[in-house]
Amino acid sequence: MALTLPALPYAPDALEPHISAHTLSFHHGKHHNAYVTNLNKMIDGTPLADAPLDEIVKAATPGPMFNNAAQAWNHTFYWESMSPEASTPSAPLAAAIDAAFGSLEAAVKALSDAAVGHFGSGWAWLVADSAGVVSVMSTHDADLPLAHGLHALLVIDVWEHAYYLDHQNLRAAYVTAICESLLNWNRASERYAAVAA
Ligand SMILES: [Fe+2]
Repeated sequence: MALTLPALPYAPDALEPHISAHTLSFHHGKHHNAYVTNLNKMIDGTPLADAPLDEIVKAATPGPMFNNAAQAWNHTFYWESMSPEASTPSAPLAAAIDAAFGSLEAAVKALSDAAVGHFGSGWAWLVADSAGVVSVMSTHDADLPLAHGLHALLVIDVWEHAYYLDHQNLRAAYVTAICESLLNWNRASERYAAVAA
C-alpha cells in the first residue's frame, strides 16, 4: 500500500500573514508531495513497500531512499509543529525547558538562533533524549533526530523553499514569525508526554 501525502492540519491560509497559502500550495502540494511520490516509486516491490514511514526512515541507508523518506517524515512533522492558535508548554515540558535553558524565552531564542544560523538547507529542532532532557539541534539536508536516537518535539524548516515566496532571502524574518506566532506547544507537549511515558 503506497504512502499518501497527509493533509495539512489547518486551512491553507491559516498561517497567514506569516506563511501564505501560496507558499503552502508549493511547499505542501509540490515539495512534500514529490518526496512521497519519489519514495513510493523506490519502495514499490521491495520489503519496505508496506512499512510505516518511520520504519522506512530507520531502515534506509544514506542516499536517495533515506533522503526522500526523511523529507516526507520531516515535512509532516513540520506542519504539525505550527498552529495559528496560541499555546503554551505543558507543566512537564515547561519544567524540562526551564531546567535546560532557564526559561521558555531562552529556549525559543536558542531554537531561533539555530534556525537562522544554520548554513545551507536543513532543519532546526527542539528535541528530547530518552531521559526527557530537552535541547536544540540543527540537521543538514534531510537528516533528523530519529537517526540520532533523539525524539523530535518541534521543527523549523530552513530550506529556502520554506520561506522564499513570502520573505525572499530574509530567513530571520520567517524564523521570527514562526517563533513569535506559530509554534504549536500543544503538539510539542503531547510529543514530550510520549517520550516521558
Ligand atoms: Fe521543506
